[in-house]
Amino acid sequence: MLSLTNKHILLGITGGIAAYKCAELARLFIKAGAQVRVVMTRAATEFVTPLTMQALTSNRVHIDLLDAEAEAGMGHIELARWADLILIAPATADFLARMTHGRADDLLSTLILATPAPVAVAPAMNQGMWADAATQANLQVLGQRQVHIFGPDSGEQACGDVGAGRMIEPLALSAACAELFATGFLAGKHVVLTGGPTREAIDPVRFLSNHSSGKMAYALAAEAVAAGARVTLISGPVSLPTPKDVTRIDVVSARQMLDATLDIVGEADIFIGVAAVADYRPEDSAIEKIKKHADTMQLTLVKNPDIISTVANLADKPFVVGFAAETEKLIEHGKEKLQKKNLDLLFANNATDTFNSDAVAVTVISADGEQAIKPGSKQTVARLLLQEIAQRLPAAKK
Ligand code: PMT
Repeated sequence: MLSLTNKHILLGITGGIAAYKCAELARLFIKAGAQVRVVMTRAATEFVTPLTMQALTSNRVHIDLLDAEAEAGMGHIELARWADLILIAPATADFLARMTHGRADDLLSTLILATPAPVAVAPAMNQGMWADAATQANLQVLGQRQVHIFGPDSGEQACGDVGAGRMIEPLALSAACAELFATGFLAGKHVVLTGGPTREAIDPVRFLSNHSSGKMAYALAAEAVAAGARVTLISGPVSLPTPKDVTRIDVVSARQMLDATLDIVGEADIFIGVAAVADYRPEDSAIEKIKKHADTMQLTLVKNPDIISTVANLADKPFVVGFAAETEKLIEHGKEKLQKKNLDLLFANNATDTFNSDAVAVTVISADGEQAIKPGSKQTVARLLLQEIAQRLPAAKK
């Protein structure tokens, strides 16, 4: 599946004449549904104006490493985490050399070191510079470090030379980027997820709930589609759009979430409980709005059914993955939940940092031990978590 929908692309522009093609490239990314942020080197601003890129992407262009204004909003570490892909286009010979040496002397080179996202380069330079042994050796090192190298093309160059070194055309470049997301490692699998909060009614206008925004579940659902899966998302009340190609079932309470889950889970290969399900609900929900008479009032709460435990104890259970959001003893509590709920895998995250945030840090806990995943945007981390699941699937089921 080739899609850039909802992908966060950080477009890094360095100082070469091909920089003018980046206006068209940014437009193609946006047309394909991606969000684009632009980082330029100082030299790049000599070839294309930041204002042009800002107008095309509707986002401020970032240039300086030490930028007090950016640090208050989206500083360099946030940018590095926000990206699902960093594309350097055009990538000059000088910038490739600096990347090879791991330099961090401007914003763009620093981002490349800091990001957990894949990095791609579209080299563009004079044919002699391209053919030079130093450039070729640099490219080899970058390739070994999993940097994706797109191009260059051959042909007539701006300097009048003819040969290899032209940046590949924007259309081919955007297609090459889309291909990076066409993993397909969950092809043929049906993934069922719960996400968001539940609401437990006190009366017709009041409820008990929590701060879950649904962002983690929705990112997992979108990435599961990108990985080729059929995806059903059972969602509590959130204000997020349904990711493309996801079947969404809306519920409100924990008991509705359980019913919707049991209706569908027999068809699932993988069940992921991302929802922050209310553990308790009011014993009785008043039919009319409760009036304010006394200075205090008491609510009697009763336990809600445990949805994920119910699924994990089915005779023909799917591969069952839980989440744990903890404020303390993350690993200890995560391990307890893995065991107590009979889960195949558990993703532990810090409750104070994760609810309603765009970024997340997750530790994967299984019977074999635990492993921290590099923090990043929920979308980037979601892809890594799905890979963790996929690696373990054959041993578990179906
Ligand atoms: O929605 P966001 O703002 O993006 O935030 C994401 C998140 C913090 C909600 C998510 O990453 C997360 O951690 N979800 C689990 C929250 C939690 O603390 O769950 P828990 O410890 O109460 O439950 C552990 C597991 O049991 C979870 O998989 C939960 O879905 C499941 N559970 C819990 C209670 C219950 N009655 N039924 C369940 O299925």
